[in-house]
Amino acid sequence: MQRIQSREYFAGEFSLPGDKSVTHRAIILNSGAEGVALIKNALLGEDCLSTCACMRALGTKIDIDGTTIRIEGTQQFRRGQELNCGNSATTLRLLTGYLSGKGIDAKLFGDESLSFRPMNRIAEPLSLLGADIKTTDGYAPVYLSPRNLHGAHVELPIASAQVKSAVLLAGISADGETSVREPFKSRDHTERMLSAMGADIRVDGNCVTVKRSALHAMDVCVPSDLSSAAYFMALGALKGETLCKNVGINPTRTGIFTAFDRLGVEYFLANRRVLGGEETADILVKKSDLRGIELTEKDIPSMIDELPLIALLCAFADGVSRITGAKELRIKESDRIQATVQLIRGLGGECEELPDGFVIRGKKKLVGGAVDSYQDHRIAMTAGVGLIASENGGYISRPECCAVSFPDFFKELGIERC
Ligand code: S3P
Repeated sequence: MQRIQSREYFAGEFSLPGDKSVTHRAIILNSGAEGVALIKNALLGEDCLSTCACMRALGTKIDIDGTTIRIEGTQQFRRGQELNCGNSATTLRLLTGYLSGKGIDAKLFGDESLSFRPMNRIAEPLSLLGADIKTTDGYAPVYLSPRNLHGAHVELPIASAQVKSAVLLAGISADGETSVREPFKSRDHTERMLSAMGADIRVDGNCVTVKRSALHAMDVCVPSDLSSAAYFMALGALKGETLCKNVGINPTRTGIFTAFDRLGVEYFLANRRVLGGEETADILVKKSDLRGIELTEKDIPSMIDELPLIALLCAFADGVSRITGAKELRIKESDRIQATVQLIRGLGGECEELPDGFVIRGKKKLVGGAVDSYQDHRIAMTAGVGLIASENGGYISRPECCAVSFPDFFKELGIERC
């Protein structure tokens, strides 16, 4: 249990850790590429360390020095490995796709939370390419056996970067052409990195096509993670003024700005440039009067990980907010619809659960209270913001789960003992 005091004013300049999605992909893609790569400003949270551990078990040489990862790829992965993906669905799903055409067998598994996350969503599309993936009644452990893959067209029923990436990473080992279409565009870091590393890849709206490709190693300078910066941006909007530097603003990730525009948050982007194939900017956010908003299905993919935080901002707004089309939240590290509703109520706010989202009655002020993280990093960090911005502060139990994506989160907030 961690005590968190409320603050009248919150301001400062923050350098956030590297992007989680980009770090995972840089490790995986360089692990089987020809040559040596340096990944700078890599995120060394538990999730990305799980990816490193899996790739090491498969025979890749990986050295970590500060926030730089040196990767010496291997052309032949080791067979018969048991790959522990920890809490990370990105590791398990991307690796299953990537390894499915690499001529090896493997078992992929994870912790209790990961064992409750659906894996048929990757097994089914990968089987269309001829992959042999067996799940455990639709969940992890997942077992893969070597198969020669052939190209196929995959229509995804949901927008999911993890599923899309699993198909694309299998597609680069398949004969012929593999294409994948999703109903709305999800984050496209895989497409960008594959293209930069020499893959034969084409993007046409929501449809991506790849052919068999050998990748060459590529140094990557990882931008700071917008999903981590979002907590500090939210504190700027609620309590003062914050500046987050060198943050990735890939357009498939910037739904938080759509939410900010509707909420009435005052923010500015400066120093825009391109870092490692991804656009970055410094983001300044100022204290703003917030109003209730509406978000629907098409808005969701580009803000999927920020939704608990956006719901919290709605609880501090004037008016009613309605967020729908977000049923994917039910199968994240926790049931994030239920966890967010409990969090907002625990802070003294009013939030009602919908099957695919929430209705939040904004109160402008929340008193604070005792809340739980549900052992979900995004809920823990949203709780931290809510308690600081509340009138009386309060307590959060099990805050240490933020280590999967942002180990120093509470320290960065100036809260020492956690
Ligand atoms: C991720 C994709 C998203 C996101 C997750 C990271 C990725 O998941 O929620 O935190 O790196 O590809 P889905 O693909 O399940 O939407």
